[in-house]
Amino acid sequence: MHKYTLMLASVADVALRGRNVLTVSDLSPLEIGTVLAVAAHLKTGRVAEQLPLLRGKTLGMLFEKPSLRTRVSFEVGMTQLGGHAMVAQGSDFMVGSRETPEDASRVLSRYVDAIVVRTHAHEPLARFAAAATVPVINGLSALAHPCQALADLMTIRERFGTLGGIRVAYVGDGRNNVAASLAEALAMCGASITFGCPPTHRPSEAFLAHVQRLGKPHGSTVRAFSSAIRAVRDVDVVYTDVWTSMGEEHLAERNAAALLPYRVTSELMAAAASHALFMHCLPAHREQEVEAAVIDGPQSVVFDQAENRLHAQKALLVALLTDLRGMPV
Ligand code: CP
Ligand code: NVA
Repeated sequence: MHKYTLMLASVADVALRGRNVLTVSDLSPLEIGTVLAVAAHLKTGRVAEQLPLLRGKTLGMLFEKPSLRTRVSFEVGMTQLGGHAMVAQGSDFMVGSRETPEDASRVLSRYVDAIVVRTHAHEPLARFAAAATVPVINGLSALAHPCQALADLMTIRERFGTLGGIRVAYVGDGRNNVAASLAEALAMCGASITFGCPPTHRPSEAFLAHVQRLGKPHGSTVRAFSSAIRAVRDVDVVYTDVWTSMGEEHLAERNAAALLPYRVTSELMAAAASHALFMHCLPAHREQEVEAAVIDGPQSVVFDQAENRLHAQKALLVALLTDLRGMPV
């Protein structure tokens, strides 16, 4: 196909404006590629040139759970793009408790241009998003953390120059939100994932089959092992997250007992490729899910991941709120 036709085809296929992003698989592989390309462009560009992109736009952010990275990176991102962000927290807004998710969503849609929601259960968020007339972004639910996954893809690609063929091991609680979004994202971009988890924390068969289906056209595979060493053997990236996610504190003791053999130690890192990276979405607990020597060591890219939350989310906002004019799509 002629290059110009190719370019038109790709612009026509990327119709992100106005969409909701509740999980990574709400995006197509092409759309993920677009967000990553825009993110890389914004990361290298001057903020002064970015100011007009979202001038006059307001992002509403609703947080039922604590946040440092998600909250601050979205707020700073809106400032750098010439817009504004406002936050409602905890008792100001509980998805579905003070009023129905649908009513809250319809009201907010009259005030703001896009909404980020961090909530416990995914179902009220899905109802909230279905009723919204502006884009809704999942800022973390029990099921998914798509913004983290976009930043993680960006970080892996910066380091290896590609995502295709990269092998990532996720060790620990394979049933949590970060693991789920990471697996979807890798599968859709041609990278492969292995889980190292005890049976109690292994992703469901239905989820593994879903990831397998997503990855098949891109040559990606997904496998789950009960041995951490087997999961990380020769991989390019070792990823872990907290043993107990927010809202599941009553399970902390049980999780710690089950996941102790899955702590990421220097010994475990030695089973991965010698060039392997260590990744963690943060916040982290040193000497629980990861040894301090690993997260503070030379293989760790956790602060690049945290920085890339800013760039990836700015790109997502530009994609959802503009026609991407002037962007590298
Ligand atoms: N990784 C992440 O989402 O961090 P916060 O909980 O601080 O937003
Ligand atoms: N799995 C963690 C991620 C925090 C960013 C949690 O849900 O608490």
